[in-house]
Amino acid sequence: MIIASNFKTNHTRKSTQEFVSFVDEFVKNSSSSVEVRIYPTATALNSFECDKSIQVGVQNFYPVQNGSFTGEIGFEQLEEFGIKSVLVGHSERRHVVKESRELIVQKFDFAKQKGIEIIFCIGEPKEVRESGLDTVMEYVLKQLDGIDLDYDKLIIAYEPVWAIGTGLTASNEDIKETLKRLRETVKKPLLYGGSVKVDNVEDILNIDNCDGVLVGTASWKAEDFCKMISTAQKI
Ligand code: PGA
Repeated sequence: MIIASNFKTNHTRKSTQEFVSFVDEFVKNSSSSVEVRIYPTATALNSFECDKSIQVGVQNFYPVQNGSFTGEIGFEQLEEFGIKSVLVGHSERRHVVKESRELIVQKFDFAKQKGIEIIFCIGEPKEVRESGLDTVMEYVLKQLDGIDLDYDKLIIAYEPVWAIGTGLTASNEDIKETLKRLRETVKKPLLYGGSVKVDNVEDILNIDNCDGVLVGTASWKAEDFCKMISTAQKI
């Protein structure tokens, strides 16, 4: 089971350090087989020394080792901090920053070539969900075009766009049906994301084919994130 926190544009270097230390302490004091992932902002990266079940990764990178790409962060900069896990295709990068499909596939290929873990995010906008499950599946499977689904360090996060940061969670039935259909194509771990909270994480983690959650807003308090880890430990 994987419990991941996406900080988005939140926390400072200091509060990130405090967060990571708090979670590390919590994990070390509990017998856990839960895999924990934390994606802070790039400015808060550090060579964190954590329990082996915790990985601190990045929300974004540019698919180059280094070079002339003003404002971007290449792999040389990530290697400095021993980064071994990245998010690719998050809906805020697709829809807010307008990252193209081509760039997303390039990022996937680059991270794969580097042999690091990739949480690849897919998810449909509201109007697609309103057209029914078949339309949703057509949409999300298209987002997987060009992605090597056999890559051994691949994790897929299904995150409906309309559920991200809105407080609206997909119904358990919708999550169940979507993950079931995704499982026909994807043999890798499947996460759900989109307004996961301390209160609903248990139900979501109990859904068939759900191997974990990617959490934004409700994970930014270390105590709450640890409550979610603790829930996962009991499942
Ligand atoms: P949210 O974000 O939990 O705030 O909805 C989820 C995500 O962006 O991964």
